[in-house]
Amino acid sequence: MIRIGVLISGSGTNLQAIIDACNSGYIDGKVVVVISNKEDAYGRVRARKAGIPEYYISHRGKSREEFEDELIEVLEKYEVDLVALAGFMRILSPHFVRRYYGRLMNIHPALLPAFPGINVQEKQWEYGVKIAGCTVHFVDEGTDTGPIIIQAAVPVYSDDTAEDVRLRILEQEHKIYPLAIKLFAEGRLTIEGRRVIIQGEKKKGGFLMNPSE
Ligand code: GAR
Repeated sequence: MIRIGVLISGSGTNLQAIIDACNSGYIDGKVVVVISNKEDAYGRVRARKAGIPEYYISHRGKSREEFEDELIEVLEKYEVDLVALAGFMRILSPHFVRRYYGRLMNIHPALLPAFPGINVQEKQWEYGVKIAGCTVHFVDEGTDTGPIIIQAAVPVYSDDTAEDVRLRILEQEHKIYPLAIKLFAEGRLTIEGRRVIIQGEKKKGGFLMNPSE
């Protein structure tokens, strides 16, 4: 059973998916602490409802390292094995990343390395991609550059709004984040350079083409 710390800044639907996956036994783990850098993040309410200790730690008026030291203090107190960034909208410096490398994950709403950065659901829609998606990756010292664990692709239709695309991606995020954490908890992920090797990987094959005819 792994101990998971989740960092959030917003509504926390990914946090909820992780909590639910732990509660159902899908993940052999437990969310032991949630930290938000935004006071009004709805994810804090989700944590409280689930009986999980939650902290609000503002980054304002602090150096990056000071802020990160405060995060580290809480994460250490709860003896986390894995730190999961779930809509956490602060870039973490090498100070933090080096400490947790290999046990620090992020979910990103695009098929990396395409569309790093923020508001990328809308950027994918604006760009006119026919296939969008999401990525769970280990975090390294770059922005959205770390070794990729799992990706899911979704079609973008001609009559979609950017919001349709965001929601279609989000639905897949709620599947791939719990799966990535499940694989981690089962000790099935090994980082080899840029590549993540997955033990006992299911080779389902298939492809997504859009439009399909
Ligand atoms: C998610 O779509 C996540 O992929 C994205 O923020 C949203 C948070 O939603 N993260 C990033 O853009 C990170 N750069 P949630 O709070 O409902 O999980």
